[in-house]
Amino acid sequence: MKSPRKQAFLDTIRSRRSIRQYLKDSPKDNEIEEILEAGRWAPSGLNNQPWRFVVVKNKVIKSKLALLTKYARVINGAPIAICIFLDSGSSYNRDKDILAIGACIQNMLLCAHAQGLATCWLGEILNKKDEVSALLDVGLDYELMAVITLGYSDEQLTKSCRKSLKSLILGEY
Ligand SMILES: Cc1cc2nc3c(=O)[nH]c(=O)nc-3n(C[C@H](O)[C@H](O)[C@H](O)COP(=O)(O)O)c2cc1C
Repeated sequence: MKSPRKQAFLDTIRSRRSIRQYLKDSPKDNEIEEILEAGRWAPSGLNNQPWRFVVVKNKVIKSKLALLTKYARVINGAPIAICIFLDSGSSYNRDKDILAIGACIQNMLLCAHAQGLATCWLGEILNKKDEVSALLDVGLDYELMAVITLGYSDEQLTKSCRKSLKSLILGEY
């Protein structure tokens, strides 16, 4: 029997898209907090929770952040940018910590989408991770892992594609 809850969950996963153009309206503080809350509940090795967040709403700071990536248009156009850092003080195994932060980010993207908000995970900005840390004055213990732009979508619904499941399965025993 199909469970409606499971179907809704899979629909949320499948219908999320990276959105690079946003309306001017900003998400409310409680919506942003819910997204951070979803990130907070991600799994991590030894439950070390190595993620830390900086929420950028200030337009001047946001435009300085935008100067650090070729995706400046995405950051400048989004009302909010959430910077996600790895706290080296909590780190115990770099590979596992980075995987945990990926889980944290995916929780946040899905939570935003479930609330009718749009996001884009920006990785290219990692080329300037030290400059981002300096701009946001977070100190040497924190290493940038990603920036997520957040807002209401101003894009038409687009299709995305994935490799077939068959092509992803290496074996079955
Ligand atoms: C680690 C990572 C880094 C990414 N970096 C960027 C980026 O710098 N700029 C961008 O526009 N999209 C970036 N994306 C978004 C991907 O382009 C997008 O997820 C992919 O094309 C699939 O599209 P979809 O998210 O709409 O399904 C990144 C996604 C991930 C997971």
